[in-house]
Amino acid sequence: MNILTFRTQEELNKAGAGIITGLLQTNPRAVLGLATGSTPIGIYRELVETHRQGLVSFAKATAFNLDEYVGLEPGHPASYYTFMQEHLLGLVDIPPQQCHIPSGIASDLQAECARYDSLLEQYGQIDLQLLGLGHNGHIGFNEPDATLEGGTHLVELKESTRSANARFFDKPEQVPTHALTMGVGTILKAKMILLVVRGADKAEIVQRALQGPITTDCPASLLQTHPHVVVLLDSEAGGLL
Ligand code: GLP
Repeated sequence: MNILTFRTQEELNKAGAGIITGLLQTNPRAVLGLATGSTPIGIYRELVETHRQGLVSFAKATAFNLDEYVGLEPGHPASYYTFMQEHLLGLVDIPPQQCHIPSGIASDLQAECARYDSLLEQYGQIDLQLLGLGHNGHIGFNEPDATLEGGTHLVELKESTRSANARFFDKPEQVPTHALTMGVGTILKAKMILLVVRGADKAEIVQRALQGPITTDCPASLLQTHPHVVVLLDSEAGGLL
């Protein structure tokens, strides 16, 4: 694992965007696994700026998002579809048909998970999977549990996750109770994983995930088994390492 700690958010954002830009410059057809949440926003802002300067193109890339809330229409302001449009995918030259996200409003959610997995299989492997980290060690929406699932599946969100994400909704009770998420099997199959974590409130879980035992109680700890993980931390998130 290559762990890099940055003094400023700007340096961290530039490093994250630089890794993704470098990949797209050498492999314009790269398959990107993308994440939501507040953590990647600065990296997406930097990528949009690099794209605006004509230094990177997403025209031949493919994007797969990690997860989506169940019950939210794509146009809902708090859907992950909207998030991706507003922060990256709607602002660069990637064609919409190359952007994939599970549908949280599919009438048959199991069939939607199977559709997403077979689409992922057509591409074989994600080249770079960007990840944030939940306070309880979740990656995507793979919550701590006695067992974890390999493929895309329906999850019931932990109350702690719902309250952490309540800031994106008008009222806490509007946070959906369920989500569809890519499984840890798909995440771990990615060629490279870029884990980004910011803030003192994540220092403890960063330490557990990167240095603690490998356990399904902390899904991010499974990243210790992956051969090519780059971790970008601000100094607060890296404070206990
Ligand atoms: C959300 C997302 C995750 C994200 C995590 C951290 O629940 N499903 O993909 O990494 O929580 O969010 P944030 O970056 O806002 O702290």
